[in-house]
Amino acid sequence: MNKRFTLLSAWVMTILLIACTPDEQIKEVALPPEAESKSLEDIKIGFSMDTLQEDRWFKDRELFVEAAEKAGVEVEVTVANGDDVKQVWQTEKMISEGIDVLVVVPHNAESMAAIVERAHDAGIKVLSYDRLVRNAEVDLYLSYDNEQVGILQATVMTELVPEGNYVYLGGAETDYNAHLMKQGVFKVLKPYIDKGDITVVFNQWTKDWVPEVAKANMETALEVNHQQIDAVIAGNDATAGAAIEALAAYDLAGSIPVAGQDADLAGVQRIVNGTQNLTMYKSIDDLSERAVELAIKLALNEEIQEDRTINNGKINVPSILLPPVPVDRTNIKETVIADGFHQKKDIYQ
Ligand code: BGC
Repeated sequence: MNKRFTLLSAWVMTILLIACTPDEQIKEVALPPEAESKSLEDIKIGFSMDTLQEDRWFKDRELFVEAAEKAGVEVEVTVANGDDVKQVWQTEKMISEGIDVLVVVPHNAESMAAIVERAHDAGIKVLSYDRLVRNAEVDLYLSYDNEQVGILQATVMTELVPEGNYVYLGGAETDYNAHLMKQGVFKVLKPYIDKGDITVVFNQWTKDWVPEVAKANMETALEVNHQQIDAVIAGNDATAGAAIEALAAYDLAGSIPVAGQDADLAGVQRIVNGTQNLTMYKSIDDLSERAVELAIKLALNEEIQEDRTINNGKINVPSILLPPVPVDRTNIKETVIADGFHQKKDIYQ
């Protein structure tokens, strides 16, 4: 066999081998050689956010960017303003322009599944931030324990109001957090409901977490129950605030206990002035810092120690869940003020 023929046949064999290699192996072969030896300054995080509707998301954005800068990695942030099509498009654009890891707060838990696949096809891992993407092979979920948020809300409320008519103003049905919270709330309420001590006289989702929707729902709840309401549990502080506006129209603000979450400045101020009883504090500092640290690990293909897994309809997603802290008028100083989440002067104006 002459040398030329040997080279030619080796080349043909290589082509045939590549053509017959299953997809998985081609992907591995196609990985850029620098992937293994990436350093921090090579890493770019894509942070796809749903919304800036609530106070907290401004903090998430600011603190996430700060933590990334501190770690020496680049970050690009997009905000979809509650528009699924826009969020998919913005994320696809980041993937095609080149990011090393995707951090996503899905507007719609189901719609973002396609993006997880798209990212994986490009060799990019995905961290679900605060909200879980459903039915997709998400690499990591980092959030506060949302079921625990509901459990704590209902535990405090049932201590305050062990009997009576409850209104439940859930979050957005498209946000899986809203389902987890509701699960937590009803886990606690169930024995009271079974005993006949508590009746949930109104139970609705709040489309896209829009406060005006929550307010309209609260108005309906008050009307159909002839104002015979004893407690209100709302998905977050923005919807709790809207419910309190509806109560105020009947002069009931402050006489019916209301629970929310997020420790929004307005929520904490309402706790001080007595129209809201409870909120759930989730340190965005901790969340965003952890997220950047974990996103970097994902980009570097480093091992991550998860706390537990949560099934998202497709897989058991490795998850890290931080503990929410209930805040009422007795512990504002030790929680949100001590952490610098809010300034004392802003709360007690
Ligand atoms: C978050 C809440 C937030 C709500 C509305 C939920 O997924 O956990 O903190 O208030 O979305 O944006």
